[in-house]
Amino acid sequence: MKRIGILTAGGDTPALNATIHGAVARANQLRIEAVGIMKGFSGLLNPTVPHVFLNPLLQSIPELDPTYGGTLLGATRDYVSGDDTETIKRVAERLGRLKIDGLICIGGDGTLNGMQALGTQIPVVLAPKTIDNDLGLNYIDETTEWERVPASNPRGYIYRKRPGRDFSLDEMVNYCTPGFATGVYVSATSVQRIRTTAESHRRIAIVEVMGRDCGMLALGTAYGQPDLILVPESPFDDDHLVSRVQSLLEIQKHVVIVVSEGIVDHEGRPFGAVRASTDPAGNLVYNGAGEAIRDLLVTRIGDDYFRETRRHPSAEAAVFVRKVGHTQRGGRPILFDRFTASQLGGKAVDLLADGFQDCVATLQYRQGGYVLDSVPANQLRDRWGVIHARPMSPSFYDPTRFQPSPKGVEYLHTIFQNALGADDVEAIRSLFDTGHLTRPYYSINVDIHKRIRRLPEEAQ
Ligand code: F6P
Repeated sequence: MKRIGILTAGGDTPALNATIHGAVARANQLRIEAVGIMKGFSGLLNPTVPHVFLNPLLQSIPELDPTYGGTLLGATRDYVSGDDTETIKRVAERLGRLKIDGLICIGGDGTLNGMQALGTQIPVVLAPKTIDNDLGLNYIDETTEWERVPASNPRGYIYRKRPGRDFSLDEMVNYCTPGFATGVYVSATSVQRIRTTAESHRRIAIVEVMGRDCGMLALGTAYGQPDLILVPESPFDDDHLVSRVQSLLEIQKHVVIVVSEGIVDHEGRPFGAVRASTDPAGNLVYNGAGEAIRDLLVTRIGDDYFRETRRHPSAEAAVFVRKVGHTQRGGRPILFDRFTASQLGGKAVDLLADGFQDCVATLQYRQGGYVLDSVPANQLRDRWGVIHARPMSPSFYDPTRFQPSPKGVEYLHTIFQNALGADDVEAIRSLFDTGHLTRPYYSINVDIHKRIRRLPEEAQ
């Protein structure tokens, strides 16, 4: 292996540059050239393949900073469809013209679905990322629990998962993904901040967090000590929720509720609005779960209660929704993410150098510590070849208390006990650097743009 390609696909995370950094550092050691493809699969769909040499003379370029969020290569949700053999052939030719012997895709389940087609032409390896923490399996045979059920949609079916089995944490395939820890850090601190204002004004605060169909981010937000957490994997009973909210209001005069954006009712219907994402996993983009919970509480508890007991003008005035939104996906990655992301980047290079193909670098939890490993991508696919987002195991959640279960607490503890480094705390101080007031923001895109090279146009 003389030259590898690296691309970042799907939604960004704070730890992408750390993964690229780990990959390039390992490539330097193995004397392999690393070429970054700009803007994910979109760069390969462009006939001139905009690209950047990441380690000229086997030294990483200075723009590659593992403590800086996002991705210096840019990211899109474009992908190469497995059915489009013409495009796949063209992409493979372009990689050939660039003399790339193997490709690392840094991505999630969507990227893995899109990467499969390319794997027929060139060795490809996935280095995992996603704040949703939904790439992997709770246990290796979990894929057999997916079934196709007839449905009145254009495809004629939906996928549904049968209830899973008990498992130990050591069995989890890809224990957690880079980006998750920082996402949790941001959402948990958001809850702490919202708490004191809800407390002062005797209000109900609903904090909506990302995660799509997976409740892991919401579960981790428990570190901010919300009163109640709602997750997609555990449809809740309206009466139970309303009664918990009312008894909390009686005791502490305010309530903080974390709502995962993908929560569903008992029929599996999303609480908010959905639209199709453009990534190849067929993921949905959710919107409005927090507002739907607000409407439910406003209607069920009613104006009279808030007027008489809390002196609020109406129920609507007493309940507010805040989305943590894209701040969960951006900014400086915390230590746990930087470390695991760099390790996984390095592992992906090793896999390519050792001749592995169509596989995923994974972080495993074994006997109280972390090890790097890999899994063939096919082992993440169900019998129809589909890679599903890993659901948060229901065993991690206590639906009666709307809180993490003892097993969920154990899982989170293994990740977060040492997740923040001293430098993360020190980094907060840099916010009030006086230079921030006098210097305009200098984007990494400015310098990367100067490094972009392109292939000559293809002959038509
Ligand atoms: O998959 C990562 C994620 O951040 C989800 O949690 C969220 O639903 C989605 O991406 C948002 O995507 P976009 O930024 O493309 O709207």
